[in-house]
Amino acid sequence: MSTVAKSYNKSADSVVAYCSERTVIQSPLQDELQKETLANAPMSMMLGAPEVLSFGQNFIRSFGGKRVLDVGTFTGASALAWALAVPDDGEVYTFDIDHTNYKKYGVPIISKCEKTFKKIHAVEGSALEAMDKLIADGQSGTFDFAFIDADKVNYSNYYDRSITLLRKGGVIFVDNCLWGGSVCNPDTRNDESTRAIHEANDKIYSDDRTYSALLNLGDGTHVAFKK
Ligand SMILES: C[S@@+](CC[C@H](N)C(=O)[O-])C[C@H]1O[C@@H](n2cnc3c(N)ncnc32)[C@H](O)[C@@H]1O
Repeated sequence: MSTVAKSYNKSADSVVAYCSERTVIQSPLQDELQKETLANAPMSMMLGAPEVLSFGQNFIRSFGGKRVLDVGTFTGASALAWALAVPDDGEVYTFDIDHTNYKKYGVPIISKCEKTFKKIHAVEGSALEAMDKLIADGQSGTFDFAFIDADKVNYSNYYDRSITLLRKGGVIFVDNCLWGGSVCNPDTRNDESTRAIHEANDKIYSDDRTYSALLNLGDGTHVAFKK
């Protein structure tokens, strides 16, 4: 039986629940957004696992991260987590092909805290194009942290763009890298997304530009540190 699960999933096993209960710390706004997303948003299981978001916040806070790339906004849970972790002059660029869910569920909750909300730059459209624009604008090497959580077929492309945009020592979290365990067996790698995640996992593992570790955290978190 697979032990891959996001902790808010009722089928999460006792090990996942035990670890998450001793990892996740949410602000009242995060708690409200999680509840609202799970209750009302379409495809609510796209919501980022809170244990992954807490772990990412720990990295950002401990190394003084200020500038964050958030690839895949959905209702804004990951963008909110990073905005809470960066200092007052920090910035979170959050990309989504469609910000309808962010505007409907995220903005009304996150904007209750103006100080946090103003750190988030929501960029609607292709995330790949938005990242290429940042590179063209001369922002390579200026970001501290990247969270990759949009369309899986572009995972390797998002990873490459993130490496360009991050400074030395910057950290990348690639979410859903176990994809419910389906990447682990050739017999279950039978769709485009699963194969793309598997290819990204192999690419990251053998990439000389980063140190990395694939963790069984949430739905699988591949963590890479830019050399
Ligand atoms: C798993 S959700 C993101 C969850 C969010 N990070 C969180 O923590 O709750 C993935 C998002 O990627 C977006 N997406 C899909 N393809 C995209 C693309 N080509 N460019 C930008 N965003 C895309 C979807 O619209 C969706 O909202």
